[in-house]
Amino acid sequence: MDRRERLIARARQGFRLAYGVEPTRFFAAPGRVNLIGEHVDYNEGYVLPCAIDRETIVAAGPPAPQSKEKLFEAVALDMGDMASARDSFDLVAPIRPGENNWQNHVRGVVQALGRYGHRVRPMRIAVAGDVPIGAGLSSSAAFGVAVALACSDYSGLSLAPETLAKVAQLAENDFVGCACGIMDQMASAASVADHALLLDCRNLQTLPIPIHASLAITVIDTGIRRSLTESAFNQRRAECEAVAAHFGVKALRDLDWDTLLRAEPDIDHTLFRRARHVVTEMDRVEPIAIALAQGDTAQLAEVMREAHISLSQDFDVSLPPIDRLAQMVSEGLGDAGGVRLTGAGFGGCLVAVSTHEAAEAIDGAVARYNAEADLPARAEAYRPAGGAAPIAVG
Ligand code: GLA
Repeated sequence: MDRRERLIARARQGFRLAYGVEPTRFFAAPGRVNLIGEHVDYNEGYVLPCAIDRETIVAAGPPAPQSKEKLFEAVALDMGDMASARDSFDLVAPIRPGENNWQNHVRGVVQALGRYGHRVRPMRIAVAGDVPIGAGLSSSAAFGVAVALACSDYSGLSLAPETLAKVAQLAENDFVGCACGIMDQMASAASVADHALLLDCRNLQTLPIPIHASLAITVIDTGIRRSLTESAFNQRRAECEAVAAHFGVKALRDLDWDTLLRAEPDIDHTLFRRARHVVTEMDRVEPIAIALAQGDTAQLAEVMREAHISLSQDFDVSLPPIDRLAQMVSEGLGDAGGVRLTGAGFGGCLVAVSTHEAAEAIDGAVARYNAEADLPARAEAYRPAGGAAPIAVG
């Protein structure tokens, strides 16, 4: 059994245990690693994430035959034991928030589909995943997009990837309380295998960028965890919006570097640094897209190093051990690839894009870091995966 088969078997068995019957359909949505364009999506710029071969699987089937109510039932197999990780709600009454985050993801998705004018049929689902939780690899987006796909497809709706992404984002914004942008959900819904996804977060247009065959993607988990719903993420977003308001532009995408620089003496220095990260980060997306397609590791090394420093010093979302690890990996790689913090920050993972041969240098740097660190880091190779889709299972 490969990784996905094991996951499907777990979802199938969970469904059977929870409801006493076999599921009839399976759906999958991947997590993502962001290669460049960090904290840019809610500023309406370009980002370049890539779906990974870790995913959420939803097993789905019809409601209990004897039930007279129009119920939606869910069991989340990674969220506790079979008794505590269950939820059920009436599809006819207004949908209210549940007791915890995962229930709110499910309820939020069903409610958001309703807001888009789509009616979800009574059904039952079991959800299992292998995207590391809280690591900055978008386990939440994978969960939300997988549930959105399962609910809509099972209800006879064929929704575009953008709609699935918007539904999952709305659920997270309104029911989970995280003011996240659209990048993670779009990466999960619309990625193309072996490509990164260049996404214009203003109009949701996408362009798959081929990843040169000489390149490997390694995710280095720092082991440091922090939840996204914490206020720091929402605060960063509010700071960016405050700068945009100061300049009278819709979003920081509309702010150019010279205008920002001229205004430096007039604005609060923290706000200036936030905007400097976003404006310079937007300029890093195109060079990385080209370097990725051409396999130009020297360019990846240079631009990703700048990106990490900007996240750390201007956006203040790194931590001293993460900076140390990034520096050690960067030194180990030299010109053979780049490394930087990926995702929202405040913990989570580094991403390295390097030649395949450089994997050894990454392992060596991680081993040196682990010899002195409180929490051990772990490097793992990920493959660029395709976006959310139903699974044909025999
Ligand atoms: C989280 C959010 C995204 C994005 C990134 C930072 O993953 O969910 O919308 O803002 O952080 O780039």
